[in-house]
Amino acid sequence: MKALIAAGGRSTRLRPITHSINKHLIPLAGRPMLEYVIEKLVEADIRDIIINVNPGETGIMHAAFGDGGRWDAAISYVEQQGGAKGIAHAVANAEPYLRGGPFVFFLGDNIMTGSIRKMRERYEAEGFDCMVALSRVEDPSRFGVPEFNPDGSLKRAIEKPASPPSPFAITGIYFFNERYFDAFKTISPSPRGEYEITDMITWYITHGRVGHEEITGWWKDTGTPDALLEGNTFLLSQTRIGEGTVIGEDVTIRDPVVIGTGCHIEQAVVGPHVSIGDNARVRGAAIQRSIVMDGTTLEGGFSVDRSIIGRNARITSRNSVGSGPSKLILGDNAVVEL
Ligand code: DAU
Repeated sequence: MKALIAAGGRSTRLRPITHSINKHLIPLAGRPMLEYVIEKLVEADIRDIIINVNPGETGIMHAAFGDGGRWDAAISYVEQQGGAKGIAHAVANAEPYLRGGPFVFFLGDNIMTGSIRKMRERYEAEGFDCMVALSRVEDPSRFGVPEFNPDGSLKRAIEKPASPPSPFAITGIYFFNERYFDAFKTISPSPRGEYEITDMITWYITHGRVGHEEITGWWKDTGTPDALLEGNTFLLSQTRIGEGTVIGEDVTIRDPVVIGTGCHIEQAVVGPHVSIGDNARVRGAAIQRSIVMDGTTLEGGFSVDRSIIGRNARITSRNSVGSGPSKLILGDNAVVEL
């Protein structure tokens, strides 16, 4: 079975970070988000992987994930012609790569703890045309939502409904067969201008057999800063400190944290739930529940919490800053004097 990962899109909800970094390269617990998705596929023995990327981004994504050799997988990259025209379009765009059998489509910003192996086995054994993974969520109106018939079978799928007909999100893990490509020709863009995956699922419900499986473990769509930080917290399990990193005087590390290589930390409190990239510098500051990317400096008597700080940013303060921790969502090269 082949897999397509969606790693394009505009990621507007994560601006300003995503002005200069593709969302799927943002580090969670010290590793680019997409690595966790690749590992889920490989764990289910799906090693023929295609990554959908924005036009012009093949180089940067290839630099991050290569040809898949690291995972004993084969990774190729396909650029979404015309840009982010919706996730249903990303699949249709990859038709030449996906033809030849059923495939799994995995949204690159979906992070989960469980395995997709059982779903794959059910999809293949029960002869479904399509299969979706559901997760019970607090606010289904942010997602694609399934509506059920009184007998429990699926009736249709609705994208971000104002009044959700069930308490489930349709997660970004889908199995489809080759009927997809003819069906895609029958749908048109939604009012928000995107080809919606929920329209494809509704087509399958009407014209074929659709299975569904509830994900019982932890699942998150990391599309917003808070969700991203939650993903980081969840994925951090043990403290790791990279080579060449100097932990100087008066440093308190509150587990778990991940600190990259070549960093310099002194007179600081780091953690819990902090990921710091390579070549960063923290002096005098306290930082918790945050992501700090490569090359960034935090220097001064202040504390930050629930923050995401891009690459090569500089946050400083001359005097100690009272009134509790600051929340900072800053892009690459930001300069802040508190
Ligand atoms: O996470 C689950 C939800 O994902 C589903 O419940 C929704 O039905 C589905 O539409 C989707 O909703 P989002 O609003 O979260 O989709 P988003 O625009 O964030 O894109 C999802 C992923 O696909 C993300 O990793 C970016 C990528 N993408 C997105 C678009 C629009 C592409 O690769 N190409 C695209 O054209």
